Amino acid sequence: MGARILMCPPLFYGIEYEINPWMSTERQADHTLAGEQWDALRAALELAGASIEVMTPVKGLPDLVFTANAAMVYRRQAIVARFKHPQRQGETPLDRAWLEGDGFEVFDPPAELSFEGAGDALFCGDTLYAGYRMRSDAGGHQKIGEVLGVRVLPLELADPYYYHLDTCFCPLAEDQAIYFPGAFDEYGQKVLEANIGTLIPVAEDEARSFACNAVVVGKTVVTNAGCPKLHENLRAHGYTAIATPLGEFVKAGGSAKCLTLRLDGEEAAGWKHTE
Ligand code: ARG
Repeated sequence: MGARILMCPPLFYGIEYEINPWMSTERQADHTLAGEQWDALRAALELAGASIEVMTPVKGLPDLVFTANAAMVYRRQAIVARFKHPQRQGETPLDRAWLEGDGFEVFDPPAELSFEGAGDALFCGDTLYAGYRMRSDAGGHQKIGEVLGVRVLPLELADPYYYHLDTCFCPLAEDQAIYFPGAFDEYGQKVLEANIGTLIPVAEDEARSFACNAVVVGKTVVTNAGCPKLHENLRAHGYTAIATPLGEFVKAGGSAKCLTLRLDGEEAAGWKHTE
């Protein structure tokens, strides 16, 4: 079965509040351009072989477009988000309803702890890499790992511009990932180096263009425009790299990967390749 990805059209998208350093209500997104950029991302993913499932957008929930945060998927189980900021908490009942309707067994994160789904929890091989401090709590990741029976490696996010793990880290295959070293402390960098065979570093200027916020479909990697060095590097590693401009979403602190939730498991997830 091919890749299945959940997206939500940007009908009610906009910068209505400020919950990360990229957002300023004085720098509004262009509605028409955002729609065009979203359509082009969808088309690029379809061309790469993905089938896109669409969630109904809702007025008053401008960040619902960032479906990566809806949940973390493990086989046919989904752990929905408990958003840190009240501005996004209204999204969870809608995410839950969609996932249940699709047949997922849906769970809440451990009580009281915040957890922002695939934005902060990414499998590379059999290990769950878990970003914490800005949006998700480290304790919650550990408990989720215990319940699922998977190893968790927590990574502290050190720079507020890289407030979700998926803004600075992207698993490509079971032993291969893209990362921006500057978003991690020294310990986090060492954890990544010690556990992932091939780490492709991203330069700071490209990290700022959300180079690490990539969507992987088979051997195709789709990112925002403005990351030519990473793309060259990806090609050298045998990938097809596709750039599609997503500047209107960068205004909210998001890009390609944030706009997607892989429903059949990320390409790099070890469990996807066993039975
Ligand atoms: N404005 C959104 C927020 O701050 C952007 C979310 C980006 N999503 C992601 N997976 N990095 O929550």
